[in-house]
Order: sequence, then structure tokens, then C-alpha cells
Amino acid sequence: MALVTTKEMFKRAYKEGYAIGAFNVNNMEVIQGIVEAGKEAQSPLILQVSKGARNYANVTYLKKLVEAAIIETNLPIALHLDHGDSFELCKQCVDDGFTSVMIDASHLPFEENIALSKRVAEYAHDHGVVVEAELGTLAGVEEHVSNEYGNYTNPAEVEEFVTRTGVDSLAISIGTSHGAFKFSSTPKLRFDILEEVSKRLPEFPIVLHGASSVPQQFVAEINKYGGNMKGAQGVPEDMLRKAAEMAVCKINIDSDIRLAMTAAIRKHFAEHPDHFDPRQYLSPARAAVKEMVLHKINNVLGCNNKI
Ligand code: G3H
Ligand code: 13P
Ligand code: ZN
Repeated sequence: MALVTTKEMFKRAYKEGYAIGAFNVNNMEVIQGIVEAGKEAQSPLILQVSKGARNYANVTYLKKLVEAAIIETNLPIALHLDHGDSFELCKQCVDDGFTSVMIDASHLPFEENIALSKRVAEYAHDHGVVVEAELGTLAGVEEHVSNEYGNYTNPAEVEEFVTRTGVDSLAISIGTSHGAFKFSSTPKLRFDILEEVSKRLPEFPIVLHGASSVPQQFVAEINKYGGNMKGAQGVPEDMLRKAAEMAVCKINIDSDIRLAMTAAIRKHFAEHPDHFDPRQYLSPARAAVKEMVLHKINNVLGCNNKI
């Protein structure tokens, strides 16, 4: 099987009320942990590469590792650019063989966001690649609310945005944020915005960024073994499940991978201070990624047995 786009994945996910996990990948152990879980659960997967991941690992290594994952699992896997910040980067990923790219021009004024997203969509579509764009901004969403929508996505803008850009999916801002410290008080998401967006864009796949749930067992373990992640808090899993049952077809998870690996490695060194073979501490880290992803697929996303 070759890499696939997210087109068919999203069509079925929308119809059947589940979401596909989009997991950030930076090295071999992360990819192996994710795809071992996907194989066990028989789940489609989106493996996403950020600009930082490209710089860290070299995109050729990542692409070849993902190709190896397909050979090993025979799963439908999409290779996606996460948070592309320019036409040039998106074009490079299309030319490199990615099957999906995100152009994140959400920080730009509406018209400029439309112009850039449209330019990327035209190039990508000419090459059989699908495009995700973003409307509304995630970071600091709680601090900067100045009107009803503030930095949240304004549902009144989504039809015009999607029609004029021609993009295939839309990331929206409903209160999630990147990283491990998402809420300083009780977590709250604007499901009313999601509801309104989906009314205005029938059967159109919506994407949720910043959707790690920051499992407290990882936080406790990291803190127990010398780390300091006091106050870390993510999106409660029941909210993610609800979003997946609504119009959200892609749920982005990166921080939970980082937490799973860090907790496992800290624990390993606490118990085996004499170890210095990377295989000794990367094995439990990889196993922790697999266990976390399997839990998400089976209990949160609902994309198990959907291939
Ligand atoms: O949303 C961003 C992802 O978590 C990727 O993070 O840019 O540090 O690779 P990164
Ligand atoms: P988290 O930081 O919540 O894992 O979000 C990841 C993400 O949105 C990647 O684009
Ligand atoms: Zn993101």
C-alpha cells in the first residue's frame, strides 16, 4: 500500500461519528510506538511532521521511516505537514511526497489568510494532495478575548473562507491550545462554536489542534522522578470524545507523546541509574507511546477497526 490522503478517512469518520488521530512524529521510536498501536487496533493513522521535525530529523529519514511503517503494518497512513507557515514549505512537502499539508496562516488578517491558503490549495490539488487551513487562533485564546469570539473561530466567516480557498479541512479554535498547560482553571471548550460551524459547513471535516489530554499519571510520574510539571492540564477525554462524535474528524496529539516518553525515561533512569545503552531506555519509551496511542484510538477517538 502507498501513502493515502485523508479524503476517504474523513468521509467515513464524519459519517460514522469518530475522529482519526494525527500524531506528531520526530524519530523512529515514536513512529514505531504509534503504528504498533494502529496495527493492533486496525486503525487508519495520520502521521504529521512539523517544520521543527523536518529540521530535527531530516525529512528523508522521516519519510523512509513512514514508508517502512506502511510495509510493516499495511495500514492506511497519511503523511501530513503540521503547521506549514509558508507557501514554499507547503510546496516542498508536496514535492517531497506528503499526501496532506496544513497551511497555518491563522495569524494573518482574514483576506491574507484566504489568499495564502488558496494558493497552497491550488498547488496541492494539482498534485493530488489535500489541504488543511486554520481560522481563529489557538495560543492564549483565554487571555485575549475581546468580543464574543475574540481569538476563537467566528462561525460567520467559515463558509466564505472554505468556498474561496477550496481547502479540504478546517482547523478551528474553540478553547484548546498547544502544550501541556492548557487551562489554569476548569477546562472549557466552546462546543457552541463547533456546532454552529458544522451547521454552516455540512459534512465538512473539522480539525482540533492542541488536543492532548495530558494524562495525570504521566505528570505524576515525571514529578515523582525529578521533573517539574506542576499544574499541567489537558483537554478532558470526554470532551474529545464528544468533539469526535460531532464534526471533528482529525484530533492532533503531540504533547501526550512527549509526556509518555519522558515519564517512561525518567522512571527508567530512576530505577536503573547505571544504564547507558539508548535501547534500554528507548524501549520503555516506545512501549509507553504505543500504550497511550492504543488507549486514544480505542477509548477516545473511536477509529479502531475502521480500515
Ligand atoms: O503544534 C505543534 C506541534 O506540537 C509540533 O511541535 O513545532 O515543536 O515540532 P514542534
Ligand atoms: P498538543 O500540544 O495538545 O499535543 O497539540 C498538538 C498539535 O496541535 C499539533 O499540531
Ligand atoms: Zn497544532
